[in-house]
Amino acid sequence: CGIVGFTGAGSATDILIRGLKKLEYRGYDSAGIAVFHDGDIRIVKAKGRLANLEEKIKGDSTLTSTCGIGHTRWATHGEPSDVNSHPHDSHRITVVHNGIIENYMRLKEFLTGKGYEFKSETDTEVVAHLIDYYYKGDLLDAVITAAGKLRGSYALGILCRDDPTRIVALRKDSPLIVGLGKDGNFIASDIPAILEHTKDYYLLDEGDIAVLEPGGVTVYNMEREIVQKEKLTATWDVAAAEKGGYAHFMLKEIMETPKVLADTINPRVENGEIHLEHEAELDELFRSVKKVMIVACGSASHVGYAAKYVIERLARVPTEVDIASEYRYRDPIVEPGDLVLVISQSGETADTLAALRLAKSRGAKVACIVNVVGSSIARESDYVLYTWAGPEIAVATTKAFSAQLAVIDLFAVRLALVRGAIDEAHARELTAAIAALPEQAKALLAREEECKRLAARYQNAKDLFFIGRGLDYAIAMEGSLKLKEISYIHSEVYAAGELKHGTISLVVDDTPVIAIATQSHLIEKTVSNIKEVKARHAKVLAVCREGALDGDVADDIFTIPDGEDLFVPSLDVIPLQLLSYYIAVLRGCDVDKPRNLAKSVTVE
Ligand code: G6P
Repeated sequence: CGIVGFTGAGSATDILIRGLKKLEYRGYDSAGIAVFHDGDIRIVKAKGRLANLEEKIKGDSTLTSTCGIGHTRWATHGEPSDVNSHPHDSHRITVVHNGIIENYMRLKEFLTGKGYEFKSETDTEVVAHLIDYYYKGDLLDAVITAAGKLRGSYALGILCRDDPTRIVALRKDSPLIVGLGKDGNFIASDIPAILEHTKDYYLLDEGDIAVLEPGGVTVYNMEREIVQKEKLTATWDVAAAEKGGYAHFMLKEIMETPKVLADTINPRVENGEIHLEHEAELDELFRSVKKVMIVACGSASHVGYAAKYVIERLARVPTEVDIASEYRYRDPIVEPGDLVLVISQSGETADTLAALRLAKSRGAKVACIVNVVGSSIARESDYVLYTWAGPEIAVATTKAFSAQLAVIDLFAVRLALVRGAIDEAHARELTAAIAALPEQAKALLAREEECKRLAARYQNAKDLFFIGRGLDYAIAMEGSLKLKEISYIHSEVYAAGELKHGTISLVVDDTPVIAIATQSHLIEKTVSNIKEVKARHAKVLAVCREGALDGDVADDIFTIPDGEDLFVPSLDVIPLQLLSYYIAVLRGCDVDKPRNLAKSVTVE
């Protein structure tokens, strides 16, 4: 989502709309603004692109205030609609929010008990009511108290009816800056929103609360002491700023993986236990289900192949994986009592949607793992498990893929526990391993330079082979696809043990082979396959655990931190994505928009 706010001299409405336009890349399913008017706060919001909001406010003479906040939404809780759009209000308080309030259900119960009525399905509305509940005449006090009760991630811009020139802003795990202008001050979730007015800004840290007035900004900590902030100066132009200073959206999105994993995992883990949405119904289904069928396209189908290993190993439920375009025409054996799991970033892929409809028409229950709230697949499924990856702009998926894997891991552990295939202690151990993924991903991303160096060594390949066994094979599929998509290098992926049945005839002097070898029970087998290709003088890059391979087994080694074998795909994929990215950059390819490909394929 994108947030912007302004207080100063000039029309807040104009400044907010112009700012939101620059943030539209962060979310575009609805937009809204709130400005002071006549002793009250006036809110206007509209579903759809920002243009709809502009249409709605055209000629509105009540929107002349010099202070207000605005928002462009990427839906999380509650589908895109006028009523779920931000800002949200409660009596004297109006808020815009970016992030996810993890404990919103609890807070909603509490506030409903206090007589608050909820208009929307959003998690954000609890923030407005909560601040209003604690408001006793001092907004800063109320915000500090409310912040102490919120779990999750948030950037918030807040208005109070009693302070018609003031904005209060704070953040936790979601970005927010304060822009310092000559004629007024700004909040924004990203620099592009304010660049045409000022280059000077403060970066809010966790626990900072900014109070903006037309003549100045004061930043406090949670103890209400004043914090001295360092004034920063933006050096990026708008285009660079949209990408967070990265050269491409793809790199920015890879770098967002730790946050995306945390946003997807943390709301579903409480006291070391996994709780999925629709818990009662899903648990019942989990107990009785005979077969899981996974249907998806592209990278999402690779998540499916990984899922098969994880689900079967942990829960011992037979799991089939199909590419949606095959599934829909092969007259699949699917019947009541089956669970069909549909995976899709966009939620709009035509083949996947058709497969879902087929499964439903035959009486199966359909659960989906989807990134876009309110998308067709989300609407038509019986149960939705969202990935909280935020908007993904680069055509080649990265962060959404990692988030899908995380949901699969959570799903598999819950399924296994409910069916009694694992005991509680084991489930806790596995849950802790999943919860550790965001930090491990962060550590891997810090080794970007290593991937860059490897990219330089493999950039001139004509054909490249990926091999692996088990889960390593599933992730090798994704590594190979990523490379093909963006660098246009021909690549094949093979189950390492199958190589000798044909493909090895293509391995000659210096043929590059990327071997994924992280599964401890398969390591010796994979090493044998690496030796087979080395004997034909292949150039091998091995992705493996630290110390797992002797130095001379491969030409290059990239190590992955130790941890549970079943969940390692979320980590392995990071160096593979970075490697593809840097190879594509070195070859001068249009990384974010590779030829012939589309982000969302709504034709069959
Ligand atoms: C397109 C994209 C792929 C994606 C596939 C499935 O081909 O380019 O990156 O994996 O569609 O998309 P979905 O939105 O269903 O995950």
